[in-house]
Amino acid sequence: MSNTTFTMIKPDATAKGHTGAILDQIIKAGFTIKAMKWTKLTKEQAGAFYEVHKERPFYGELVDFMSSGQIVAAILEKEDAVAAFRTLIGATNPAEAAEGTIRKQFAASIGENAVHGSDSDENAAIEGNFFFSKLERF
Ligand code: CMP
Repeated sequence: MSNTTFTMIKPDATAKGHTGAILDQIIKAGFTIKAMKWTKLTKEQAGAFYEVHKERPFYGELVDFMSSGQIVAAILEKEDAVAAFRTLIGATNPAEAAEGTIRKQFAASIGENAVHGSDSDENAAIEGNFFFSKLERF
C-alpha cells in the first residue's frame, strides 16, 4: 500500500472556477500536495496519458475533452492515498457519486467529471511520473 496518488482537476472544473474549492477540500481531507502544476495538454499528450483506454468507445471524446482546456495536475500524499482519494471524489459517474463527494458537487457528467484519481498504486506512480520529474516533487 502506497501513500501517494495522482490527480487532475479537469477542464470543466477549472473553466467553471472550481479549482480553489476543490483544492481546499483535498487539503482539508488531509492530503499533502507533494507536487502540482497548472497546464494544458495537447491532444497527443492526453492520448498518451489515457492510452490504457485506447480501445474504449469513449477514448476520442475523452482525449478531446482533456485537451480542451486548463488542468491542474498534482501528486498527493496521505495514508492509503489511492483509496482515500477515490472516496473523497466519489463515483466516476456523478449521478452515482455519494453526497458530499467532489464529483457530486462539481461534476456534470461521466465524461466531464471534474477530477481524475488514480485507480491503483501502480497507475499512481505511472501517472505521477508522466507529469513530474524528481526535481518537481518533494
Ligand atoms: P478518469 O478517472 O479520468 O479515467 C478515465 C475517464 O474516462 C473517466 O475518468 C471518465 O471521465 C471517462 N469515462 C469513463 N466512462 C466514460 C463514458 N462512458 N463516456 C465518456 N467518458 C467516460
